[in-house]
Amino acid sequence: MLYLSNNMKPLFVFLLFCHVASTVKHSLNIFMTATSGVPNFPEFVGVAMVDEVQVGYCGSNMKTAEPKQDWVRDLMKDDPQHLQWYSLQCIGYQQFFRANIDGLKQRLNQTGGRRHILQKMDGCEWDDETGEVTGFNQYGYDGEDFLALDLQTLTWTAPKQQAFTTKLRWDADKTRLEYNKHYFIHECPDFLKKYLNYGRSFLQRTDLPSVSLLQKTPSSPVSCHATGFYPDRAMMFWRKDGEEIHEDVDHGEILPNHDGSFQMSVDLNLSSVAPEEWRRYDCVFHLSGWKDDIVTKLDQAVIRTNRVPEFPAGLVVGVVVGLLVLLVICITGLFIWRRNNNGFLPANSEDLRQH
Ligand SMILES: *[C@@H]1O[C@H](CO)[C@@H](O)[C@H](O)[C@H]1NC(C)=O
Ligand SMILES: *[C@@H]1O[C@H](CO)[C@@H](O)[C@H](O)[C@H]1NC(C)=O
Repeated sequence: MLYLSNNMKPLFVFLLFCHVASTVKHSLNIFMTATSGVPNFPEFVGVAMVDEVQVGYCGSNMKTAEPKQDWVRDLMKDDPQHLQWYSLQCIGYQQFFRANIDGLKQRLNQTGGRRHILQKMDGCEWDDETGEVTGFNQYGYDGEDFLALDLQTLTWTAPKQQAFTTKLRWDADKTRLEYNKHYFIHECPDFLKKYLNYGRSFLQRTDLPSVSLLQKTPSSPVSCHATGFYPDRAMMFWRKDGEEIHEDVDHGEILPNHDGSFQMSVDLNLSSVAPEEWRRYDCVFHLSGWKDDIVTKLDQAVIRTNRVPEFPAGLVVGVVVGLLVLLVICITGLFIWRRNNNGFLPANSEDLRQH
């Protein structure tokens, strides 16, 4: 049993790391975010992911966790206790986060009406070839790493002075530390295997995306956008005369769609390319383990845009493109929000078994 390095790098690094992980590694991750004083954002959001696919959701004032994907609903139907476990976590963590964000604000003298965010990321990874299990559990406050659990020494690590009081308190709670150890080394990998079992055909499928070229205005970069692919091990790049190019290219993140598939885009700035040169460029989408790439030639005629519509269809496309962009922004927002969390233990935390 090994513990994933006490990795407290920003989330994006973590996500990148996940994406390059070998195909035999599976993961169950839980992300929670609590906010205080942030308008138009729920006070609490919890999301569970298996191999980067959302399997559960819990939001402010929800009494039961909500399974996502049909195969997760099947699992919950066959094992109502598991749904109950999630629901208890959902309720318990809402209280836990509320108590902690309030406690932290008080202790750090943050009495003004400022916005505060408390986040938690935890999870386990299982290598189905070697059987190796790793786990991690970390909290962030106001966008900065706050506390991380070292599963080897069973102590909390505080990178910042302001977390030190909390570290001492949490280090003294041996029951919770032991529960953590048990959860990340046994329970979490067991849950993960259970999910993989139910989701096998869903998680092991291969879906190719639809690829389109989008451009906001004639002077904007052309965005090569692929959506609907699965799994998330994919690459996309621009070529000129058949050679991959890096200059004037902007790679986007791989983002999840609501249906469990993924999307990504890569932009090419063509401001210094003459129109007659365009045909030398193409966009390539490559799905790991799939030999046929999807190649899209750069062609003015196939670019979808919302520039001045010549006929109503253009307008419709424009709206669709706009909505797509909005969706990307929303999902990106969610990802940025997913970070860590936290502070004091509420009095009844043992009953709720937070980790
Ligand atoms: C909070 O304010 C009190 C009283 O003004 C002060 O003694 C304490 O050091 C402050 N704590 C922090 C973390 O700034
Ligand atoms: C595209 O490139 C031009 C010059 O090469 C630059 O002025 C412009 O800002 C770039 N546009 C974008 C959106 O990066």
